[in-house]
Amino acid sequence: MKSFYGFIVLLLVLSACEPSLSEKEIRHYREQGDEIVKSASEKLSGTLMSKMKEGGAAEAIAFCHQSALPITKKMGAYHDVDIKRTSLKIRNPENLPSVEELKVLHYYEDKLVEGKELNPLVSLDPSGRPSYYAPIRVQKKCLMCHGTPKKELSSAIDSILKVKYPEDLAIGYNEGDLRGIWSISFPEIE
Ligand code: HEC
Repeated sequence: MKSFYGFIVLLLVLSACEPSLSEKEIRHYREQGDEIVKSASEKLSGTLMSKMKEGGAAEAIAFCHQSALPITKKMGAYHDVDIKRTSLKIRNPENLPSVEELKVLHYYEDKLVEGKELNPLVSLDPSGRPSYYAPIRVQKKCLMCHGTPKKELSSAIDSILKVKYPEDLAIGYNEGDLRGIWSISFPEIE
């Protein structure tokens, strides 16, 4: 019996040491994350659409190629966070998912298969930084560059993509699929 109580005390001590976020902190990071993702996706998709109008898909791809990462980096610096977009099927090798992000991507894929809603997540990552994740779903307008070759993806776009991204995995998607996630890392809590 004595060892049983000892075990309970040990469990309590261990769980007290395990860092976690309070309800209030979770709400705070969730709101911040929602806001940052909203402005970052508006910025990316707004510029993408205007480039499409200016010079068609080739111009838009050139814009994504040169500017998608610098834009998210700059917006991250402005908000004092790291902003990343990643996926199980990446186009740009620089967007490779971390171990934590892989877990989140699989979690969302499972939810999708179960027909459940995909909501943003907040957690403390192993390095002690609060993290926010949100799903990125495929919309019809994405298929021109992320759809199936010879179907939504014209051979002209397919060949531009092959030159710029020889290891591109981000094709063959359908509307509603999980394209990837937004991953935002906040500064470590002092
Ligand atoms: C005009 C072509 C084009 C369209 C339309 C487009 N994308 Fe992309 N997408 C790209 C290119 C090019 C990249 C690689 C960007 C880079 O080099 O950082 C990319 C990268 C991404 C990434 C980063 C992860 C990765 O694979 O490297 C995500 C997420 C993404 N796109 C989602 C979307 C979604 C969602 C839509 C629709 C709302 C969309 N894209 C529409 C061309 C496009």
